[in-house]
Amino acid sequence: MTVAPTPPQSVTVRAPAKVNLELRVGALRPDGYHDLATVFQAVSLYDEVSVARWDEWKVVPGGTYADRIPVDNGNLAVRAAKLVAEQWDIDDVLSIRIDKDIPVAGGMAGGSADAAAALVACDQLWGLGLDREELADLAAELGSDVPFPLAGGNAMGSGRGEQLAPVLARGTFHWVFAISDTGLSTPEVFRELDRLRSVGGADPADPARTAEVSSQLMAALRSGDARDLGQALHNDLEEAAFSLRPELRVLRDAGVEFGALGGVVSGSGPTVAFLTESHEASLDLSVSLAASDLCRDIRRAKGPVHGAHVVTGARPD
Ligand code: C5P
Repeated sequence: MTVAPTPPQSVTVRAPAKVNLELRVGALRPDGYHDLATVFQAVSLYDEVSVARWDEWKVVPGGTYADRIPVDNGNLAVRAAKLVAEQWDIDDVLSIRIDKDIPVAGGMAGGSADAAAALVACDQLWGLGLDREELADLAAELGSDVPFPLAGGNAMGSGRGEQLAPVLARGTFHWVFAISDTGLSTPEVFRELDRLRSVGGADPADPARTAEVSSQLMAALRSGDARDLGQALHNDLEEAAFSLRPELRVLRDAGVEFGALGGVVSGSGPTVAFLTESHEASLDLSVSLAASDLCRDIRRAKGPVHGAHVVTGARPD
């Protein structure tokens, strides 16, 4: 007699933060989004999301940034779980625990990582057997940055940032992230970029036509050369983030002066990402930044790392 495997009572999934190595922003589209060309790298700061059946929808906050997790139904992990339940006609109600180690509203896609983790966790809990493409489609519905933490590694993002293509890379890169006290709103930073462009009379370049710069970045990734990658880091949103928070420019310049190979605002900020030569160099830079008093918190991480994956509660194959 064969015994049917017991379904998991709860599932825990871990998903990584991202840094944009390059972010080119096109014109504002009629739907309120901007066309992007970006290169993402997944880095070793993780949120863990655990789902279990419960008698009401509930978010249980935990981890380093527990006090900054929204516990209402607007939480992206709750929205992800509800989207799956709705599409597969599942009546279950879930308790969702989020252990947050990715800085909140920092431009590192922490909320998106939670949504990606919740999608993978619900797929396991409910035994849906969704493939990568189905998960990516659900992810894109939830937000422009949600598909990438599913995939991890390095990827080129286009469209709103949600259409991904893998990027070849060699080696491991060592990052230092300078975290600010208060977050920046992504829509506000995009609006500020539009405002600066309208004042300056600048015509946004078609992000798909920035091939020369991208090719420098791609070559650096292919060769694993951290110095070249440091030179190629670029973010069109950086000037908008600097305009809203002038102290971020001082922070970026200080990190480069302290020996970083390159520094760039991560996504819409306010986190500033610094690339360093080695693990030791990342420790040295952290010490210098801490002594400078220019940022609230400093985190080190390496990249690239894998995308969202089940930690406990995987179904037997
Ligand atoms: O897709 P997501 O909900 O994360 O986007 C949040 C906001 O960021 C959008 O409402 C829009 O204002 C801005 N955004 C944009 N262009 C993109 C991605 C986001 O203008 N490609």
